[in-house]
Amino acid sequence: MENSDWKNLPFGYYKTDYNIRCYYKNGKWSDLEVSSSEHLNIHIAATVLHYGQEAFEGMKAYRCRDGKIRLFRWEENARRLIFSAEGIKMAPLPMELFREAIFRTVALNKKYVPPYGSGATLYIRPVLFGSGADLGVKPSSEYTFIVFVTPVGPYFKGGITPVDTMICRNVDRAAPLGTGIYKVGGNYAASLRAQMTAKEGGYSTVIFLDAREKKYIDECGPANFFGIKDNTYITPKSESILNSITNMSLIALADRMGMKTERRKIPVEELSTFEEAGACGTAAVISPIRKIFDPGENITYEYCKDGKPGKATMMLYNKLTGIQNGDEPDEFGWMTEVEE
Ligand code: PLP
Ligand code: COI
Repeated sequence: MENSDWKNLPFGYYKTDYNIRCYYKNGKWSDLEVSSSEHLNIHIAATVLHYGQEAFEGMKAYRCRDGKIRLFRWEENARRLIFSAEGIKMAPLPMELFREAIFRTVALNKKYVPPYGSGATLYIRPVLFGSGADLGVKPSSEYTFIVFVTPVGPYFKGGITPVDTMICRNVDRAAPLGTGIYKVGGNYAASLRAQMTAKEGGYSTVIFLDAREKKYIDECGPANFFGIKDNTYITPKSESILNSITNMSLIALADRMGMKTERRKIPVEELSTFEEAGACGTAAVISPIRKIFDPGENITYEYCKDGKPGKATMMLYNKLTGIQNGDEPDEFGWMTEVEE
């Protein structure tokens, strides 16, 4: 990928050289297996195919200013995969095996880590699924864990360019006591009808409301939501959203930067009081929101009226990406070097 157009890299799949696999059978995890095939041989009765027993993670490897490759808060992704696995009754992957698998996959594909300053990164996709054959609805006795990597640009085209979004009132991605807090594939399948409606209307992404009352902001399709007013970073508290590692980090950074932070219910009407709004996540990084259209009330909430991201959003974006790219001191100890 010597002469790649890194700055225009989409968020999509690009073949790299190696991926890693590992299998759980008879109550034990196998050693890691390195493969150069892009395909898997799956049993036709595997529980993942019939009953959606699957969870995944999303993380990134950064080529830093000093030339080293580093990962951001990998332990949090390892913990969340264990949490997701337990949520849909899969065998959890031990932290140490997760660590070895992701660091090895990145090192094996180091030539695909985009250069420092390009704005692109190497996306890491760990996936855990039920691979044992069964027909009854019950947890599988066998699991497969795979990790592949692919170089990516920002999820929303234009990176830090503000995006237009749309509230969804006729589809729920997750029920209040359902699987919204787990990073399981089924939540994303459930979000597609809403996502396509938003796309067809010319919006970059959908914003879901709480499924119980349809009164409060939940999260965006692929990212958490935040709003800013009166020097305060405000993000939803909900029983059906993913606990975003990026959001957790922004709360810590906002606090360090002297802002107040609140994790609480956000009534839809409160959108009119925010000075800034944004979506945050590993793939999305920080995407400032320019507009939120609510079809229920036929109202459009507008931010970034001059077309530019707001001041607090930019400060948070610069601080977060500064740490990830090694331009800023890693005050919180979030970055871990990948031995090449
Ligand atoms: N919410 C959803 C539904 C997501 O898919 C993601 C992406 O992982 C996030 C939020 C952001 O989470 P994180 O910051 O841990 O990537
Ligand atoms: C991520 O941000 O890593 C995700 O997994 C979101 C995904 C929908 C692209």
